[in-house]
Amino acid sequence: MKTYIGIDLGTSAVKLILADRSGKIHKTVTKEYPIYFPEPGWSEQDPKDWWNACIFGLKELLSGEDRSAVAGIGTAGQMHSLVILDENDEPIRRAILWNDGRTSEETEWLNTEVGKDVLSGYTANIAFAGFTAPKLLWLKKHEPDNFRRIRRIMLPKDYINYILTGVHSCDLSDAGGTLLFDVRNRRWSDEMLRICGVSKEWLPKLYESSSVTGTLSQDIAQELGLSTDVRLAAGAGDNAAAAVGTGTVGDGACNISIGTSGTVFITADKFREDPCNALHSFVHADGSYHLMGCMLSAASCNEWLCKKILGTDDYAAEQSGITDDMLGRNEVFFLPYLMGERSPINDTDARGTFIGLSMDTSRQDMVQAVMEGVAFAIRDSLEAAHSLGISVGRSRLCGGGAKSPLWRRMFANVLNMPLELPLSEEGPGYGAAMLAMTGCGEYNTLKECADAVTGVRETVYPDPVISARYEERYQKFRGIYPALKELFSILR
Ligand code: XUL
Repeated sequence: MKTYIGIDLGTSAVKLILADRSGKIHKTVTKEYPIYFPEPGWSEQDPKDWWNACIFGLKELLSGEDRSAVAGIGTAGQMHSLVILDENDEPIRRAILWNDGRTSEETEWLNTEVGKDVLSGYTANIAFAGFTAPKLLWLKKHEPDNFRRIRRIMLPKDYINYILTGVHSCDLSDAGGTLLFDVRNRRWSDEMLRICGVSKEWLPKLYESSSVTGTLSQDIAQELGLSTDVRLAAGAGDNAAAAVGTGTVGDGACNISIGTSGTVFITADKFREDPCNALHSFVHADGSYHLMGCMLSAASCNEWLCKKILGTDDYAAEQSGITDDMLGRNEVFFLPYLMGERSPINDTDARGTFIGLSMDTSRQDMVQAVMEGVAFAIRDSLEAAHSLGISVGRSRLCGGGAKSPLWRRMFANVLNMPLELPLSEEGPGYGAAMLAMTGCGEYNTLKECADAVTGVRETVYPDPVISARYEERYQKFRGIYPALKELFSILR
């Protein structure tokens, strides 16, 4: 049976999987790389680190496997992060990541001087600090020499695809996150290119996510012991790929991902945008559309507390004393804005905050507050969807944070809806492999592929008593940020 590789270029690591058309996963490999925080609220990674991790990971993935069976590769990647290449296709500087908040001035300029309505007309979205266009404006102002050397603008997974194939490509789901793309008309926006001083030649050719862009280049095929017939699908932004991997395709389905970021991803057959601009409007990897709320620090809040502050990586031990009768009864609240926040508040100045501490607050209360704060902030995005008249009755749940049974129960009760855990835990990587399967003709459509290889392994139901307690706590949580908003901008 032919096999397919899925590459998920995440923020903390690249995760690679080898799967066959039945959806069976033969092997997985994870390779980490560093992230740099050169200033508070800034974040960068070196594209060369991504590539080194990919090639080492691919070699490990293929060792001992039947290389002649490999027919296709699909990629998923962190969205929005800016990769710029010079005339030799070499990275000019480190990539500026999706959760980097340095562009508050440029974002403000786009939203007020160009205007939110105009931006929405051109792209279906407003500017957020992590989006690619404000980063280009920042670069033009602060690093003019680097800006002048730009010959290619790429998103992270597209840089990897370029090395694998020699083709400069981008898929429509990821393109939306640049704010240089007209989601409604599915093409680069000439107006946005003009506003940002970007030449169209710098941008890659656009493809549907499962379309084949090319085959493996001779050098790479040789290095990996693969055939040059191995085909590459264009791939997708990690959230669209995660939605595919969890079977979130078709109209009105929802996927919640708790990774470094936390996202609420709602599919739509037809184009629609959020007039309040709390949710992003992007193309889905199955050719349709989606609305998405994105919080910048989700599972990373728990990682920060445990690793950096408490000095432990035994997350389960920290959570073991938190029993169901304690859920919804914590006096401590946590605002999870460690990198500022995107959806729905769009505030680069916001910061992580504990509130409600007293002399009897315990370490456990603080761990619980961090986990609950993330669940409350996910609910904020869901509320933004509800305010548009979209009713979400249940959702798939994926990402590293979904591995904690306690956190799963918190999410189900804070959101007060059943949460379905997908058969495969490898959301984006699995989705990327499915894009390759579909692109290589194993299935006629992505929907057909999803019906064949995705499903639900377990459903977590809310408990009416715990949900009622959380409802009350959530209403209090909602009041905290508005009360602190001005303070955050003074403290900047
Ligand atoms: C989505 C977003 C994040 C990154 C993380 O808009 O910024 O989910 O894609 O990888």
